[in-house]
Amino acid sequence: MKRRSFINVLLSGGIAVWLGSVIASIIAYLLPPEAAVSDASSVKAATTDELEPDSAKIFQFGKKPGLLLRLEDGGYRAFVAVCTHLSCTVQYRKDMGVIWCACHNGKFNKKGINIAGPPPKPLDELEVHIRGEDIFVSKPVT
Ligand code: FES
Repeated sequence: MKRRSFINVLLSGGIAVWLGSVIASIIAYLLPPEAAVSDASSVKAATTDELEPDSAKIFQFGKKPGLLLRLEDGGYRAFVAVCTHLSCTVQYRKDMGVIWCACHNGKFNKKGINIAGPPPKPLDELEVHIRGEDIFVSKPVT
């Protein structure tokens, strides 16, 4: 093989590899990634030994955050933890005894009812089912 043709083969191969990587990057950019999580209808939110009375945890409920609240009497309530004002994630504030939205100081009571601030309606409540030591949360049957 002559020196000139060897360089041509080398350059052609390099250009082909570069072009392939550019095309692969464009395709990867244009195609949306597979959703890691789908809409959930029922998820395991916690175990029964996980939450003290008057505490809460955030868990993943499909594509949205969920809030599992353990009441002072040991019972549980669960909500979609998305504020009904502008969709910020809410959290339980033990010091205030309310479910609180940090975005605009919205407040919900432990039944998910909007009691202060701009949220226009209650949180979406979820059903809680305890099976053995596991706490499952699901969408209410309508
Ligand atoms: S988004 Fe929650 S109070 Fe505004």
